[in-house]
Amino acid sequence: MKAVVAGAAGGIGQPLSLLLKACPLVDKLALYDVVNTPGVATDLSHISSIAQIEGFLPADDGLKKALTGADIVVIPAGIPRKPGMTRDDLFKINAGIVKGLIESCAENCPDAFILVISNPVNSTVPIAAEVLKKAGKFNPKKLFGVTTLDVVRAETFVQSLTGEKDPSKTVIPVIGGHSGETIVPLFSQAKPAVKIPQDKLDALTNRVQFGGDEVVKAKDGAGSATLSMAYAGYRFAEKVMKAAKGETGIVEPTFVYLPGVEGGDAIAKETGCDFFSVPIELGKDGAQKAINVLGDANEYEKKLLQACYEGLKGNISKGIEFVQNPP
Ligand code: NAD
Ligand code: LMR
Repeated sequence: MKAVVAGAAGGIGQPLSLLLKACPLVDKLALYDVVNTPGVATDLSHISSIAQIEGFLPADDGLKKALTGADIVVIPAGIPRKPGMTRDDLFKINAGIVKGLIESCAENCPDAFILVISNPVNSTVPIAAEVLKKAGKFNPKKLFGVTTLDVVRAETFVQSLTGEKDPSKTVIPVIGGHSGETIVPLFSQAKPAVKIPQDKLDALTNRVQFGGDEVVKAKDGAGSATLSMAYAGYRFAEKVMKAAKGETGIVEPTFVYLPGVEGGDAIAKETGCDFFSVPIELGKDGAQKAINVLGDANEYEKKLLQACYEGLKGNISKGIEFVQNPP
């Protein structure tokens, strides 16, 4: 298993690379960034784990060398938010960064699983899909927007109401997109079931939807979530790798192109959104099956979903437009 981190010298990239270096499933790890990868790779290379590690910069075809032979590419490249910014404010810079990296994936590792972390995820994943389509290399089962941090936050924030010692033991589907109102936690479907008093539900839902702002505010100009994101990105990457190696029964919400995944067409029709995060059963070839949890949403959650669809449609079109009619 060769893993690549693109954006490896950044706030997310470094701890994510550390976790991948320590992961026994990874045989080779390539770190790519426009700066500082030789230092990060040399530092991590002293860790006595299996993965052989190498760092690459743009010079001397570094991106091509990093991506060649990749089985999984995780992309946290791009600028993060500062207080007062929305994720959509990042589009101007990050859209081009993601487009360039995906063009190179299409050329150098068209069969790799591609996990996009760079914001705005609601638009960068449609950008990635369009770039891959243009190159004739789009496999919807292998392109994922990473929304695991929203799931991790839902698990964590509900703990005060469950009393569960290990918050990760409560499974909560968080669906939709990855920004504000497009993030929809379905607490009514928590397993084991959680009873949330009505007067606490609004605050809890809001905290999951705007958890990113909490970190941006606390970091006060020094960026957004990095360590919790590295944990979440690693958790998702590990599940993709385990499924690729044949482990079955792995399900995790992730933002995918629904019409390309079994069971996804009906969800795309119901939501009006081709790109959407739902629990996805992972298999050897990636997204094996989309699980439709919409029908089980309660009235409160259905209202949240209506707001989600509205916001998400515009974000998706913006990403597609960026590739089809470049500015
Ligand atoms: P950062 O600025 O600390 O790191 C970004 C890295 O990307 C830098 O090292 C930079 O040199 C590198 N980079 C820039 N252009 C590049 C290119 N063309 N190729 C390769 N590398 C390039 O930022 P961060 O805090 O690590 O955040 C990265 C992105 O992840 C942001 O867009 C942020 O909004 C997003 N993010 C997403 C989630 C999520 O849940 N999906 C969570 C947190 C952050
Ligand atoms: C998050 O949810 O923490 C990330 O998307 C980063 C951000 O901008 O909030």
